[in-house]
Amino acid sequence: MLVNAKEMLDKAYENGYAIAHFNTNNLEWTRAILEACEQKQTAVIIAASEGANKYMGGYKVVADLVKNLHDSLDITVPVAIHLDHGTYEGAKACIEAGFTSVMFDGSSLPLEENLEKTREIVELAHAKGISVEAEVGGIGGEEDGVTSAGELADVDECKKLASCGIDFIAAGIGNIHGVYPADWQGLNFDRLSEISDAVNMPIVLHGGTGIPEDQIKKAIELGVSKINVNTECQLAFAKATREYIEAGKDKEGKGFDPRKLLAPGTNAIKEVVYQKLDMFGSEGSANK
Ligand code: 13P
Repeated sequence: MLVNAKEMLDKAYENGYAIAHFNTNNLEWTRAILEACEQKQTAVIIAASEGANKYMGGYKVVADLVKNLHDSLDITVPVAIHLDHGTYEGAKACIEAGFTSVMFDGSSLPLEENLEKTREIVELAHAKGISVEAEVGGIGGEEDGVTSAGELADVDECKKLASCGIDFIAAGIGNIHGVYPADWQGLNFDRLSEISDAVNMPIVLHGGTGIPEDQIKKAIELGVSKINVNTECQLAFAKATREYIEAGKDKEGKGFDPRKLLAPGTNAIKEVVYQKLDMFGSEGSANK
């Protein structure tokens, strides 16, 4: 059975590590994440943005894919299926479709509307035992065509959002989705520490791709308990697949069979997962 993300994040928050959130895109992705986390006995959050849900055929397809793979692969570690950057309508649809965790991202709305809609989503989700993430202050870069300049969230706004009954909070601290530009300033630890003192709950770090290990470790010390990774798995998958094709392996025997063609990319995703579980300190968390 899939679980919500509250218990695993509270445990991470108390014990000073972060749970990895990996975005999924398809069957191979989901399988790679589940198998790697089972192998490392690590709790994990599998997430899909609204765009990825649409790509895979809808919310129910995604919820059922993760649930059914989890059961048929005999996965024993805690796994949550989470909506990433959901709209109000998307979050409501996922609550009905069998997701165990949702993010309502009202960060582009006026603050009062964000707070009001977050409270509504919390009520609907908690009635079904589903955990809720909410966001104030945009997170830089591009996510499904939504862009915002890398912001530093306002501490007072974070405090207001945290009091809406949410389980964990996403707040901009200089992080950016996608590959970090060469002139990136790094995470703003002063702001993170102020937010952390104000909200007293697990903080979510979006844009986990490419953040150097020392900054990851410091962020975890300051209350980050969930780190989102998407682009890094995509890059690893694309690189391994390209190498396979450039080496002409799809033209050898039945090398064109998707089970062979997609295997190097799938294994490359697993390598990223292993590396992140180690870096985030969550490896072995299922038994901790
Ligand atoms: P990256 O694509 O930068 O890893 O960010 C992922 C993310 O934050 C998903 O919400």
